[in-house]
Amino acid sequence: MKKQKALIFRCSSCGHEEAKWLGRCPSCGEWNTLVEEVAAAHISGGAKTERRIPQSFPLARVSVEDTTRLSSGIEELDRVLGGGIMRRSVTLVGGEPGIGKSTLLLQAAAAIPAKGRILYISGEESAGQIKLRADRLKLNYTNIEIFCSGVLPEIETVLNALHPILVIVDSAQTLYSPDLGSAPCTINQMKYCSFELINWVKDHDAALFLVAHITKDGLIAGPKTLEHMVDTVLYFEQTDAESRFLRASKNRFGSVDEIGIFTMSEKGLLPVEDPSLLFLVRRDNQLPPGIATASVLEGSRCLLVEIQALTVPAKGGISRVFSDKIDGARVSRVAATLEKNLALRLSDQDIYVNVAGGIRINEVGLDLALAAALYSARTGIPLPLRSAVSGELTLAAEVMPVKRLDGRLKAAAGLGFDFFAGPRAENISIPNGITFYAAKTLGEAIKALFAS
Ligand code: TYD
Ligand code: MG
Repeated sequence: MKKQKALIFRCSSCGHEEAKWLGRCPSCGEWNTLVEEVAAAHISGGAKTERRIPQSFPLARVSVEDTTRLSSGIEELDRVLGGGIMRRSVTLVGGEPGIGKSTLLLQAAAAIPAKGRILYISGEESAGQIKLRADRLKLNYTNIEIFCSGVLPEIETVLNALHPILVIVDSAQTLYSPDLGSAPCTINQMKYCSFELINWVKDHDAALFLVAHITKDGLIAGPKTLEHMVDTVLYFEQTDAESRFLRASKNRFGSVDEIGIFTMSEKGLLPVEDPSLLFLVRRDNQLPPGIATASVLEGSRCLLVEIQALTVPAKGGISRVFSDKIDGARVSRVAATLEKNLALRLSDQDIYVNVAGGIRINEVGLDLALAAALYSARTGIPLPLRSAVSGELTLAAEVMPVKRLDGRLKAAAGLGFDFFAGPRAENISIPNGITFYAAKTLGEAIKALFAS
């Protein structure tokens, strides 16, 4: 007797599975999102799966050649990946529609030094559209093969004929396999097809980039369900019309602290040579109150970033913190430290904090600059022009050492800063033209910064 296919109902919003249809997903609460599909256990089988004899091998026999990397030809992208594209690696590139994912990957495909074929698979744009874009960006596309389809068996045929070293899939959401019972664009389709492509690149020594669209709240469940299947997850963020930040949120082959900074121009995505220029506002005479410049470490780079603070009396006496670029809990902690140690009343104020250029910063060395900005905002006394600050604060208002103080001082000196307040440190070389004040406590640092 023919075995009947088992059906399940899966939420197209969060991926939750149910045995029967429901009007509302019990997991995410969305209405009418459950769609019928064949249970995964019933899809495999048939002629397609060739059985290999499973075999283990000694770890000692694994060749280290496996760790060779291929440069993407774009330094900012290589840095975020941890030094280039790893062989057999899979990278998910997420971001809102229109942010520049396709542009970045097309530019990378053209910039990769020729070592083999690069296959760009697009289920979203036509070959003509991609050619127009490549021409407009004046790319050298001699190594790029293009295939406009999202149908998995067709893609597999092309892969087996071409044997590319790099495969770019734009986007995972357009992948579709008729082998699977469910409709196109469902989470199961995306997961199943991505899984098959991941297996192909791992078996054939290639690398894969999967593009995934995410919505404004960044929490669309679809691409999130791919995260555990891939080696690296990169997210593209936009802060203003032109700037784009590329961050790794997972990286099996490198750190997740690095960011790639680009501007979108009519020539495509351009790497930003001097990122500090994006995060500083040039002022000639005097700083307004509430502005401090922090010398922070972002991955392997030192950046100078303007911190802006504003305090206004809180309505009803309940103080609130409005800060989306610096963690609100950190702002509250630094404000409490200021209040306790310098008798500066902030607990009856609403506190607004912003970072010029819209970059998000989590680095510990930011504390002292944040304290200086809050102090300046509350007292109305501006910081001196061309002063920079670095240092972590303890709850007892001590200034703690920060990593790579030398580099932070050098970056500040290079941008024309002439005063730097930071933690005490041994054996640091102070660049010409900058006065370094080593503070033991928050009180000392504030005194030195606001002395003039
Ligand atoms: P795109 O790479 O298509 O975004 P995604 O793949 O993430 O959806 O980028 C589209 C946007 O970028 C579009 O709004 C136009 C803009 N853009 C430029 O400003 N300059 C350029 O050279 C290119 C190619 C795109
Ligand atoms: Mg696109």
